[in-house]
Amino acid sequence: MLVRIRECGVCGTDRDIVAGKYGRAPDGRTDLILGHENLGVVERTGESVSEFHPGDLVVATVRRGCGICRFCLSARSDFCSSGRFTERGIGGADGYFADEYVERPDYVVVVPPELSAVAVLLEPLSVVEKALEEGRLVLSRREPTPGYPPAGPPKALVAGTGAIGLLAVACLRIRGWDVTAVDRHDATPAAALVARLGGSHLNVTAGWEGVPLGAFDLVLEATGSADIDVRLLPTLGPNGVLVLTGIPPADGGTVPVPLGSLLRDLVLKNQAVVGSVNANRTYFEQGVQDLLAFRRSYGDAIDHLVAERRPVEEFSRLLLDRPSGAPKSALVFSA
Ligand code: BGC
Repeated sequence: MLVRIRECGVCGTDRDIVAGKYGRAPDGRTDLILGHENLGVVERTGESVSEFHPGDLVVATVRRGCGICRFCLSARSDFCSSGRFTERGIGGADGYFADEYVERPDYVVVVPPELSAVAVLLEPLSVVEKALEEGRLVLSRREPTPGYPPAGPPKALVAGTGAIGLLAVACLRIRGWDVTAVDRHDATPAAALVARLGGSHLNVTAGWEGVPLGAFDLVLEATGSADIDVRLLPTLGPNGVLVLTGIPPADGGTVPVPLGSLLRDLVLKNQAVVGSVNANRTYFEQGVQDLLAFRRSYGDAIDHLVAERRPVEEFSRLLLDRPSGAPKSALVFSA
């Protein structure tokens, strides 16, 4: 199918690629078309395509499988074990900062028109959906115990209030979790959104004293800082899980780490640390359901997560000059 791009979100991965820290051009090329947080409209479909129609609002997945490992062969390229996958706009395949793209229907999901204002968030939301499922899979070891109902809602700590962190807060809140979000800012729109979603917000710039230790069932990291990854471990409660989604620089981490005591706690408290990357199509489908659920529970709160929409001509400002703590911006390609 041929899809006309409407808008694309700009994220930390795009900025890391521009800074030369990440990413890879397609084989035999020295340039890469960026962009993976996409939203478009179907323009034309091939003869054998029956489930998509011109005019459908659509979002395409990012990763394309290696075609050889069992995960990629069963539509779970997010778990690719050969490492020979490509990612559109990130590694080895052109992305969506373009007027149009051509794709097979297996890599595309339809979004209902009433979600058009937030659908550009579906790709980052798919990453959150997968990460939270990884966490829930670990936590499923310990529940339920008939006759012993939990004392209260499960507790989550979300580190980082960029799009991934905020979408994680929303996903956890609609499922009844007690959520605390930490970042290094005060009174930002992100902090206001956390409050509107019914979570608590803590600014940890001056120190982590306000963050309870040993208290959280699930900790979701969305900062990409190795120092913060380590800092989060002691916040885990017994049998808890820390899910890492940020990609720290390979030489990251400056704080001396009490490795023995951290690992000792992991063992003695049955704790787990799980890394989670990318998302297959099923998480995009789950994301559509959750965007609808956010609307039902919180009205247009999530709409404000895309704080800025600028014409594509302004790409360099959105990719290069971004103050820390700035909310999500999107590049507009067509009306
Ligand atoms: C994208 C994922 C991708 C990951 C690693 C993230 O920004 O959302 O789809 O797998 O980067 O390349």
